[in-house]
Amino acid sequence: MKNTFGASISVTLFGESHGEAIGAVIDGMSPGIKIDYSFIDSQLGRRRPSSGTDTARQEKDEYSIVSGVFNGYTTGTPIAVIIPNKDVKSSDYSSIKDTPRPSHADYTARVKYGGYEDYRGGGHFSGRITAALVVAGAICMMALEGVGVKIGTHILKCAGVCDRPFENYLDDICCLEGKAFPVLSDVESEMTERILQAKKDCDSVGGILQTAIYGVPAGVGEPWFDTVEGVLSHALFSIGGVKGVEFGSGFSMSEMTGSQANDEFLYEDGRVITKTNNNGGINGGITNGMPIVFNCAVKPTPSILKEQKTVNLTEKRDTVLKINGRHDPAIVRRAAVVVNSVSAICIADMLAQRYGTNVFAKGGKL
Ligand SMILES: Cc1cc2nc3c(=O)[nH]c(=O)nc-3n(C[C@H](O)[C@H](O)[C@H](O)COP(=O)(O)O)c2cc1C
Repeated sequence: MKNTFGASISVTLFGESHGEAIGAVIDGMSPGIKIDYSFIDSQLGRRRPSSGTDTARQEKDEYSIVSGVFNGYTTGTPIAVIIPNKDVKSSDYSSIKDTPRPSHADYTARVKYGGYEDYRGGGHFSGRITAALVVAGAICMMALEGVGVKIGTHILKCAGVCDRPFENYLDDICCLEGKAFPVLSDVESEMTERILQAKKDCDSVGGILQTAIYGVPAGVGEPWFDTVEGVLSHALFSIGGVKGVEFGSGFSMSEMTGSQANDEFLYEDGRVITKTNNNGGINGGITNGMPIVFNCAVKPTPSILKEQKTVNLTEKRDTVLKINGRHDPAIVRRAAVVVNSVSAICIADMLAQRYGTNVFAKGGKL
């Protein structure tokens, strides 16, 4: 299932950046989930380029849900979403047909698909495809909201500027809901300045996104290959530009002692919780009831306007590449909602596997 993810609830992606349309098919979703179109619009708005720190490509992301929704509710049959491409300038990409952009998927796509790939705008590998993931994720979020699960992502670090980590998970997630530039402390202007400087330098910058998933009960996940970490990172690594995923205190746990790293248990209002959350809410691949917390490392945007060395694949020689297209000097801001969406798809799928798909139809607490 090359372009499909998920066991009980699955998402299939299709389309190319400069083709007619992109889209997603969501299969296995419970019937009876109320579709809030304004919520889908607001999620798409968070992914859409909106400021000087983003690409100049302007896509309205007008979508149609062509099946699986009737009278405003999911029917339980496959939900197909189509988003036509409108602001397309394919001439921007004619030069990269034979001269792959370093760090993008042009070369690997050419090797895999033998020259038949739609290379325009990165084709099927373009960040544009994530708009379809965002619609699929928004539908899963509506289902999750009904069972008390909430997801939030903020930019923990960008171009050397740090935000504070999550403190009060639920409050922080709610505070992020209203933010176009998702940070928890007063660092937006400094991050923006650094991103704009990179743009001026014809360069790009990366960052780290931190995500918290609140409200998933203990006992979800499988002990070996389908661990919660395994399933989430499998899907998160599908997001173009994500090059690292760590759970809880992640790599820094390797430098702690056991007494520093261990999350001690205690009862709070009759419920087992942990005092710290270094394990990111997961023990043995299974949720322990604490918020699931992870970081994603997002690399600098590959397409930069600086001249770079590459190869000419037809003439079989080294050459230089000067990109003229429209690109984000930093992906992190726009990737935050994509990480939320992918997380929602994974958690909805894992909950459906544990409790049955109809768990969302009933709503209520898990
Ligand atoms: C929301 C979003 C927007 C992106 N925009 C661009 C872009 O404008 N230019 C670019 O070169 N890469 C962009 N990317 C990153 C590429 O899609 C990604 O680097 C490429 O597919 C190669 O995959 P990899 O980096 O995971 O190896 C974007 C990614 C996301 C998630």
